[in-house]
Amino acid sequence: MEEFKNVNSVIERVLITEDEIKAKVTEIGAKISDEYRGREPLMLCILSGSFMFASDLMRAITIPVGISFIYASSYGDSSISSGDVDIRTGKGGLDVRDRDVIIVEDIVDTGRTLTAVKKYLADKGAKSVEICSFLDKPERRVFPLEVKYMCFDIPNEFVVGYGLDYAYKYRQLPFVGVLKPEIYTK
Ligand code: IMP
Repeated sequence: MEEFKNVNSVIERVLITEDEIKAKVTEIGAKISDEYRGREPLMLCILSGSFMFASDLMRAITIPVGISFIYASSYGDSSISSGDVDIRTGKGGLDVRDRDVIIVEDIVDTGRTLTAVKKYLADKGAKSVEICSFLDKPERRVFPLEVKYMCFDIPNEFVVGYGLDYAYKYRQLPFVGVLKPEIYTK
């Protein structure tokens, strides 16, 4: 990747600013803290896209909370959703038995990834499973899904930044921007 001092060469427009993200993540963190008071939920961060959101969200939660990570992907190197969902845990697996799990995701698109992850957690004996997603593209939904905590609904455009990538690039942008279509059509 070339060093991009000029983000305008890849970003068509900024959709969500850094300040808007901070305010919303603080609000969702407070809501989760209220609704899970007296319990110790487990945040399950879906790698790789949600690492930045999960890290900020965790600091906005004021009750005891744990964090684990799994890798789940239905995308590979493309901007078009492909078939299966690949779910992997770290060495030693993932113990969610009797835990209140909050899945932390970067974006819900067709809903395929989270439908697969929810089933995986239910099969592993989680006590409850809720979804917290940074972004949602409701127009694109194929697998109906209840998303309890949602930061921003966005239109059907391909976005990058704040952890979201295109072909493993642009995750470090502190805002969410619409990627110029020529970047993924060339
Ligand atoms: P789903 O399984 O179709 O819901 O896809 C969810 C996954 O697709 C997310 O975790 C992202 O990795 C990826 N994705 C969907 N839309 C975008 C986008 O606009 N930018 C970057 N990644 C996206």
